[in-house]
Amino acid sequence: MKQKRIGFATRMGAIAATVGSAVGLGNIWRFPYQAGENGGGAYILVYLICVLLLGIPIMMSEFVIGRSTHKSMKGAVEELTPGSPFKLFAYIGVLGGLLICGYYCVVCGWVIEYLWSSASGNLLGHTPEEYSNIFSTFVSSPWRCVMWTLLFLILNFLVLNRGVEKGIERIASFMMPLLFLLLIVFCVNSLLLPDSDEGMEFLFDVDFDDLGWKGVVDAMGQAFMSLSLGVTCLITYSSYFKDDSNLMKDAVTISGLDTLVAILAGIVIFPAVFSFGLEPNAGPKLIFEILPTIFQQMPGGTIWATLFFLLLFFASITSTISLSEIPITFMIDEYKISRGKAIAITAVLMTIIAVLSALSFSTLSDVKLLGRNLFDFLDFVGPNFFMLLGGLVTAIYVGWVLKKDVIHEQLTNGGMHRSRFVQPYIIFSLRYIAPVAIVIIFLYYVGII
Ligand code: TRP
Repeated sequence: MKQKRIGFATRMGAIAATVGSAVGLGNIWRFPYQAGENGGGAYILVYLICVLLLGIPIMMSEFVIGRSTHKSMKGAVEELTPGSPFKLFAYIGVLGGLLICGYYCVVCGWVIEYLWSSASGNLLGHTPEEYSNIFSTFVSSPWRCVMWTLLFLILNFLVLNRGVEKGIERIASFMMPLLFLLLIVFCVNSLLLPDSDEGMEFLFDVDFDDLGWKGVVDAMGQAFMSLSLGVTCLITYSSYFKDDSNLMKDAVTISGLDTLVAILAGIVIFPAVFSFGLEPNAGPKLIFEILPTIFQQMPGGTIWATLFFLLLFFASITSTISLSEIPITFMIDEYKISRGKAIAITAVLMTIIAVLSALSFSTLSDVKLLGRNLFDFLDFVGPNFFMLLGGLVTAIYVGWVLKKDVIHEQLTNGGMHRSRFVQPYIIFSLRYIAPVAIVIIFLYYVGII
């Protein structure tokens, strides 16, 4: 029996859900901490270049694959290019999606902890040093971390069980604009802090001495992470798009909004970091130290904090839903099992990865992979390996293997939209820029450069 595919009710719903997938902890938690670790301005410049040169073209290529076939990666490749080995890369997507979502849910658990403590009025009233200790004490408590992670997973799979249309679309359509507004308020607040210009200098003064190869790799991985690229998520989502949506415009809008949110998060965080005399390179705990300090000096701080963590929770769940959809849709399309069963299998696998990652700062802190605990390891290999490898394959597939007619047909909707510059630019990037850039990064990994 053929499984019915669930579609989005409106075109806006599909776009809102894709923005929901893109905007998440990647923008608000990961981008600031990575920018802080890699010296600020130069990292951000490289990040923006990666979005323009690689991100947008690869996003469009995922849209072309998904929307032209209305299938997920494996089925789509079988339909577009029968017998092509590229379909095997669907497995990279499924594995990448599971691993990334596994550790990502742990940070979602941190968000619930902070939501809980702000809503119950316990978050504010400490010094910046105390916030650092509060975070360390929290993550080193195994049961608290695991409990919140499990709670998050339950909510995630409950939403998924209700279906794409009802679950994701409704949440994404009104929470994302609200989050955006809140970030603007916080930006203004941060810019009014004493010495905020030091933070702005850190963010926007480009000094390549601070960057190095590691910063370039991080910026590229982060661009893929933030735009949800390379692990076939956007192929799955765009397989639900309507045939008349304008893929070029949508990809540019989604990438633009996503990048704007990341930059706004940077403008919230760094002026505060310098104003309060803290260190920008605190790593993954950065926003959990800084944000409470920011909320504290705002009138009505508890309310702002609660509202912010609530919206961040929604931004996160729209992202984990999209990550979870990768294995779910794959199993439904590939093995013809029911959606319920696919959700159950995904839930079990993800829970195992998430619990192990949640214990990385306590019980399992001595378990190291490439010198990192499991959480840090997944936070490194997810974006910097799985997504880049998937991006390389997608670029080569669409740039070199797929017939140009299919790309033209999809990007212009059969000639309805003009693409005099966009299409040649996309093809050039997919053929040359993206593969060369990603291969250089891989050569750097294996120590050749
Ligand atoms: N883009 C999301 C973020 O920035 C994370 C994410 C959601 C993702 N879905 C994805 C990353 C699919 C890779 C693939 O938080």
